[in-house]
Amino acid sequence: MAPIIELERVAKTFAVRHRAGRLRRQRHEVHAVDDVSFTVDPGAMVGYIGPNGAGKSTTVKMLIGILLPSRGTVRVDGRDPSRHRIAVASRIGVVFGQRTQLWWDLPLIDSFALLRHVFRVPAARHAATLATLVDLLGLGPFLATPVRQLSLGQRMRGELAAALLHEPPILFLDEPTIGLDLVAKEAVRSFLAHRNREAGTTVLLTTHDLVDVERLCDRILIIDRGRVIEDGTVDGIKARYGTERTLVVDLEAPLPPVAIEGAAVLRVEGPRQWLRFHRDAHTAADLIARVAALAPVRDVAIEEPAIEDVVRHIYGR
Ligand SMILES: Nc1ncnc2c1ncn2[C@@H]1O[C@H](COP(=O)(O)OP(=O)(O)O)[C@@H](O)[C@H]1O
Ligand SMILES: [Mg+2]
Repeated sequence: MAPIIELERVAKTFAVRHRAGRLRRQRHEVHAVDDVSFTVDPGAMVGYIGPNGAGKSTTVKMLIGILLPSRGTVRVDGRDPSRHRIAVASRIGVVFGQRTQLWWDLPLIDSFALLRHVFRVPAARHAATLATLVDLLGLGPFLATPVRQLSLGQRMRGELAAALLHEPPILFLDEPTIGLDLVAKEAVRSFLAHRNREAGTTVLLTTHDLVDVERLCDRILIIDRGRVIEDGTVDGIKARYGTERTLVVDLEAPLPPVAIEGAAVLRVEGPRQWLRFHRDAHTAADLIARVAALAPVRDVAIEEPAIEDVVRHIYGR
């Protein structure tokens, strides 16, 4: 299976001028993307995450052909997006959470009609796709509302529909859940999961919200200062870096905190205790056996580290 997205040793440098003294202006370079290589297979859903200023949006802009790389090669669906912008545009959908592609003063439905012309979608095809998207995203009640009057959550659902009306096999999302409340975030996530599953749409998702990634992505790429510093599954990255787990034990009766070397009791609530342990100190089975030797145990559960903590740890290295 040939990759549908390919970046090879891609860099993007911006020349920035700033004042240095009264008349002099100094030029310096910002290495927004320094050296990024990765490929994405068709149908994958990949999280592209990293701290502010890491180079995520710049990468997306090179992938959609609005920025030319300073170095390296970018291919989307087999083509160089900066040289074949129109051909690539028909194969991709794009959502920038911080920007709209909808016409601000027009009712949502009019933006959709305009997009049909932009992408030259046959009328019957457009009507069918639109009906499906309106249904899945629950757009019916505000199709006639001017975009500027929509809530952020409503607008974001509109953006997703707009990005997918020409049925592109690839979707680039840059912070699609930014600023949304929990319910709106959940609506976006379940739509994306559905789209990926049902239409096989390849998704590259940049986000600050690691719940998005945990819920949706088979794979995450972590970028920092213009370079990919991690590439793996959410579980794989957790297993590698999440060295501490928590054992939750329900004892038959309340007890003072159990004393076991290499396990720290974080909390006691009646007969329940939370014990944090390091993978080098204990296996879960070993720790359960130690607790059971001290007191009768009714039930146990293991809490894995949150991806948030793991990622914070990786940034902190
Ligand atoms: N057009 C530009 N001109 C100058 N610097 C830019 C430009 N776009 C981005 N940058 C800089 O490049 C770096 C990466 O930005 P960006 O890709 O937007 O990061 P992210 O999306 O990960 O927050 C930042 O330091 C940003 O200030
Ligand atoms: Mg960004």
